Amino acid sequence: MCGIVGYIGSRDAIGVLVSGLKRLEYRGYDSSGVAVAHPNKTLELEKATGKIVELEKKLKEHPLFANIGIAHTRWATHGVPSEANAHPQVSFDGKFMVVHNGIIENYVQIKNKLKSEGVEFKSETDTEVIAHLIAKLYKGDFKSAVLATLNKLEGTFGLAVLCADEPETMIGARRGSPLVLGLGSESEYFLASDVAAIVDYTQKVVYLNDDDVVVAKRTGYEIMTVSSHTVNRNVEEIEFDADAASKGGFEHYMLKEIFEQPEALRNTMRGRLLFADGSAKLAGLDANRLELRNLNRIIITACGTSYYAGMVGEYLIEDLAGVPVEVEYASEFRYRNPIIKPGTLVFVISQSGETADTLAALREAQTKGATVLGICNAVGSTIARESNGGVYLHAGPEIGVASTKAFSSQVTVLAMVALLLGRERRVSAEQGIEFAHAIAKIPEQIEEILKLSDKIREIAKKYVNAHNFLYLGRHYNYPVAMEGALKLKEISYIHAEGYPAAEMKHGPIALIDENMPVVVIAPKDSLFDKVLSNVREIKARGGRIIAVTTEDCTELSDYADDVIYVPKVNSMLMPLITCVPLQLLAYHIAVLRGNDVDQPRNLAKSVTVE
Ligand code: F6R
Repeated sequence: MCGIVGYIGSRDAIGVLVSGLKRLEYRGYDSSGVAVAHPNKTLELEKATGKIVELEKKLKEHPLFANIGIAHTRWATHGVPSEANAHPQVSFDGKFMVVHNGIIENYVQIKNKLKSEGVEFKSETDTEVIAHLIAKLYKGDFKSAVLATLNKLEGTFGLAVLCADEPETMIGARRGSPLVLGLGSESEYFLASDVAAIVDYTQKVVYLNDDDVVVAKRTGYEIMTVSSHTVNRNVEEIEFDADAASKGGFEHYMLKEIFEQPEALRNTMRGRLLFADGSAKLAGLDANRLELRNLNRIIITACGTSYYAGMVGEYLIEDLAGVPVEVEYASEFRYRNPIIKPGTLVFVISQSGETADTLAALREAQTKGATVLGICNAVGSTIARESNGGVYLHAGPEIGVASTKAFSSQVTVLAMVALLLGRERRVSAEQGIEFAHAIAKIPEQIEEILKLSDKIREIAKKYVNAHNFLYLGRHYNYPVAMEGALKLKEISYIHAEGYPAAEMKHGPIALIDENMPVVVIAPKDSLFDKVLSNVREIKARGGRIIAVTTEDCTELSDYADDVIYVPKVNSMLMPLITCVPLQLLAYHIAVLRGNDVDQPRNLAKSVTVE
């Protein structure tokens, strides 16, 4: 949730750290702080509540000059957002400063013990125990004190530490919370919880594994496990550059990412569609060909938007491959003692690849003997690395907290997986070829929808003061209704619910009156007439209707207050089309309400806590 940046080299550390924090601000943003080390064996720190600009203001008033430092942007888990609770946290003797992501589960026990030994606590955070513990265990060697401390911690951490006595050393460590080491030009190193923080400075990184500890000095770095065994980790090239992580002329990251969807999807499908065979080639699944051929049941598990993509995946795989699929929230799956028999294959879907519940579901499935395949965007993320195989989205960095291009890329990957599984089972070459071509056409069809952004903004103006919204869709568009409602909730703070259209009469219809806008996704397909009768029922009760339908539809304009026409595509791919106007509707409503679209309240991009 929170973000970490660290730097050691010859540049102005504050410049590097603050620019890194700004790139990480989307991960959490209730407070932030920096600490630096000076050659005269002193540490200095500055903290502020609110956004990074508040920290910047303070640093202007009290500039810090140093070439080594650590920094943090926080999204509260233990303790309210305040300066005292912001990181870095400082040890009782002032010799150690720590920034930390994750949750220390045994912090209460450690805190009580330290208190009984006379240590005074200044914050409500679990992180503070780490700083004090290092100081307690320090016998003149920074690295040994950190290692000894890590061995006493239960829970998750990604952390960076400075020590006054060794101002030429920065230590980082991870367990269950991401951390990368960046290798800059000669004699400089970076630490970051997300590569986005350091892409301005380097493309070379080492993805640390769980229980890795890195000790970085200007003279070089060493990586070891918490049990002190030296390990070698590969240096990898980061896939995206600083430009890709900036707003590129758009007002918000979210809008940029909505408009990037044609390109993102082209990247997702590049080289993967086999038009001659009517199938798909997904290299990350090659090692699992046998399991794919022999599977008799699939479980898809994920959270939030990724879960809704999974629901589309369920329909796709069942339709094309005839394999039973269950989709389950990762948070439920992990504690439910799921039944996994031979022939069950598990897919986990995660944009960030770091979602704690999804990671735990992955591990639970593996414990029960399942092969787990990951569908992730973040290359080198924990879920990607711990999966037994998988498919990257290649959608590029998604910075806006509300997921957009990741959803469409996830659905695109699932369509290709369904095609691959389908061709091995019941899809003919002709059907497969047709489907592969239909997938390939989607990006240009999305380009057509993006041209409607201004029109959707005009529609948004009419509904900007609504307190509730209902989203209805059937079959392939039911998950889209859920996703559309989630988008609106997240960024506009308007209550919204998604429902299968036919379920309306079993309850939600009681809510309908002139104050209840209803978004109906009703493409002209085999179920259109059924959805049309829902639309009539809404109209009869005074409801206001925003309809999303296909260009060949003539009927809806008689009933709907507003109609958004989208290109007609294969019904199985319709979610890739209908999700786009709903993203734009949510975006424009939120902007018109004056909300911070990229950093909606209470939300963080990557939910690395339970
Ligand atoms: C919604 C959103 C969240 C995420 C969810 C899972 O816009 O962004 O619901 O989809 O937290 O995140 P990932 O896909 O990173 O596992």
